[in-house]
Amino acid sequence: MNANRALQRTLDRREVVAVLGPGGVGKTTLSATLGVMASSDQDTLVVTIDPAKRLATALGLELGHEISHVRDGLDAVMVDTKKALDEMVTRYAPSPDRLERILDSPFYQQLSSALVGSEEFAAMGLLHEYHVRHDYDLIIVDTPPAQHGIDFLTVNRRLKRVFESGFTKIAFQPSKIFSAAGGRIAKFLSRWTSEDYLEALSEFMIQFEEMFYEMEDRVDRMERLLGDESRTGLGLVSMADEGSVSEAIDLHERVSEIGLSTNFAIANRVYPPLEDGEAEGDERALLDHYARLARVHMDGIARLQERSGPVAVVPAMGPVHGIEGLESLMPYLET
Ligand SMILES: Nc1ncnc2c1ncn2[C@@H]1O[C@H](COP(=O)(O)OP(=O)(O)OP(=O)(O)O)[C@@H](O)[C@H]1O
Ligand SMILES: [Mg+2]
Repeated sequence: MNANRALQRTLDRREVVAVLGPGGVGKTTLSATLGVMASSDQDTLVVTIDPAKRLATALGLELGHEISHVRDGLDAVMVDTKKALDEMVTRYAPSPDRLERILDSPFYQQLSSALVGSEEFAAMGLLHEYHVRHDYDLIIVDTPPAQHGIDFLTVNRRLKRVFESGFTKIAFQPSKIFSAAGGRIAKFLSRWTSEDYLEALSEFMIQFEEMFYEMEDRVDRMERLLGDESRTGLGLVSMADEGSVSEAIDLHERVSEIGLSTNFAIANRVYPPLEDGEAEGDERALLDHYARLARVHMDGIARLQERSGPVAVVPAMGPVHGIEGLESLMPYLET
């Protein structure tokens, strides 16, 4: 099937489309573009888990941790994973008193560095909420770069393994807490004997672990939705240079390793081949340089295509700003 058709079918038929790709290739820009495309006939939400906040730039508006209305049929939100974790804990804490103790705990402050994935876990819970609460036809998820995108898709599986293997023993690495927290925790700890420390730590872990099981259910449901290929589509975005293509191919393999496959691929910021024009001197050198890059890109697209199937090609444009900028990319993605 033609790449643009595969893309359109994915947007039409899936409830969720996650956009994966190496860093800096245009995932956020293209997620927003796909959102604009889909919004003509579907109620669409574009969610970015990307801490760089470029979704706001791409759409040319202010966006925050709450859902914003962009235009008819299109909403957008930038998930702040730290806030998502706070919200989740707030919701699932068994009592206000317990909540206060958890939020105040220096262990909680360092949870995200000590227990890698805890914020993504919370973001996943939030996605589930968007999905069930708001009744969107389509949610487009702009994932963090490369491997982190895959980590995001499987965060619950990984965290569950951690919990099942004995949370306190394995997941919580005191050395990590020390190094991540710098002076603050060290100072806090200096007031404690090591016994007090271990007691406080284990008390915290028990409280958190209980909550984890409370929260887990909806994260589980979201992960099942993301792993269900009849409901969730995956798009792979790459630039066409050698390095990006290698990373994208690697990512494509990792997607297979977790039992999923990509539905469409996009090569972005591609230099299309030029007709060979008459030129001399500096201009000639520039044209030759451009032609070399265009050849590299052609090779890159061919290599990506071998693995991923047909690739939609979006050329390198001038600066892409606001909805108008996104609309200038749409003709390359439409059927
Ligand atoms: N086709 C294009 N032509 C020109 N510029 C583009 C194109 N696509 C994206 N850009 C620009 O490239 C930059 C990076 O894009 P973007 O932020 O979407 O990448 P990303 O993959 O989300 O990056 P990160 O991995 O850091 O989240 C932005 O400045 C964006 O405007
Ligand atoms: Mg991004």
